[in-house]
Amino acid sequence: MPATLPSDFFKQYRPWQWIKHMILSEYLVPWSMKVGSTSSSIFVVDLFAGAGVYEDSTTGKEFPGSPLIAARRARSYLVNRPSKKMHVICVEKDKQLAEKLGQRLKPFGSLATLHRGGFAEHLDAVSEAIGNSPALLLIDPIGLTAIPAKECAKLLQRVGKTDVFVILDFQYIHRTGGQLLSGGAADPGVSGSAANAANIGAFFGGDGWRQVAVDPSLDKEVREDKYIGMYFAGVLGSRYRYQCAYPVKRRHDAPARYWLVHASDHPDGFWLMNDEIVKVDERLVVLSNQKSSSLHDFEQLMVDAARADLRAKLKAAILELLEQTTVKRMRFSALRSELLDPYFGKVRSGVYAAVLKELVNEGRVTRENPRANAAIADQEWIGLA
Ligand SMILES: C[S@@+](CC[C@H](N)C(=O)[O-])C[C@H]1O[C@@H](n2cnc3c(N)ncnc32)[C@H](O)[C@@H]1O
Repeated sequence: MPATLPSDFFKQYRPWQWIKHMILSEYLVPWSMKVGSTSSSIFVVDLFAGAGVYEDSTTGKEFPGSPLIAARRARSYLVNRPSKKMHVICVEKDKQLAEKLGQRLKPFGSLATLHRGGFAEHLDAVSEAIGNSPALLLIDPIGLTAIPAKECAKLLQRVGKTDVFVILDFQYIHRTGGQLLSGGAADPGVSGSAANAANIGAFFGGDGWRQVAVDPSLDKEVREDKYIGMYFAGVLGSRYRYQCAYPVKRRHDAPARYWLVHASDHPDGFWLMNDEIVKVDERLVVLSNQKSSSLHDFEQLMVDAARADLRAKLKAAILELLEQTTVKRMRFSALRSELLDPYFGKVRSGVYAAVLKELVNEGRVTRENPRANAAIADQEWIGLA
């Protein structure tokens, strides 16, 4: 049983909920324009769609949920590309929430379809509807028991171009970990422990998580990192060349509430996600301290200072990398890949080229293209001056 009932979930817009919605709505625009340039039909599949709107009972304010965000994008996409179509397919299990969602999707007509019931029972219909067209899959359950790896694989391992967002909340695993014996078996003295452990095994598609859960040398943070790794390897698998996970927090200095996992076939999706993470993190720093307008200015100054510091560090890292190569030069794409690990989610994708151009203008680096300020091609050689 999830800690939050589906019917209660949409009665409050929690401080961290804007994060997934902002990332989704900003991602949908470039994603649809890119994949839609070569396909007549593209799809957003929202497998755990919810009510469509969050009605905050304390403030009375309404916030659009994922299906409405996607349906609105489908409508503007039609204006941009009248000969093409973006379609939103939603699935919602809870009868009352599905009813509300159905009402809210009515104005979008044939742009949105709603399947009522559990997502597993609609997988065949959804797969048939989307065929091999590009699709963005949203998997946002409450808890993890609803998403067994075997069921999810039917869509996750499809052939067509696929971008994925999955919300992972590990609370259930932490609780269940506490119900295991030191060897990893469920404690027969704890009612429901075997069923809980079996649910988690089904979620990962294996039992390797048990060793992580019972290892006393690991803290919660390290365990979550390992669970993310298992999800990447065991559930998303090599089908997705680009995978990342962002810890969503209510404040910039708070622990992770849940993880927003992103996977894509194409580097563009990955860089888009990188830029969204940088943006959300910077906004979180400002929002977390926004008590007065003067503090807001102060926090913005801190963000600007942190940005400048990262740029300086990136510049130094580029010079160091080039220095380490025997030929003192690298292709731009290789240089950027080497820097991904330490800088992912910290600097926007455009910053790599921007600092390189600065280095060229300062006479510390050379580039193949004689025009110092021209766009840097992925395959272009960058060398030490
Ligand atoms: C976290 S909410 C979705 C929120 C939504 N993605 C948004 O951002 O607006 C999860 C929803 O999944 C629904 N749900 C739970 N189990 C399901 C299942 N097996 N199939 C389809 N929907 C399910 C719940 O009723 C709930 O409305």
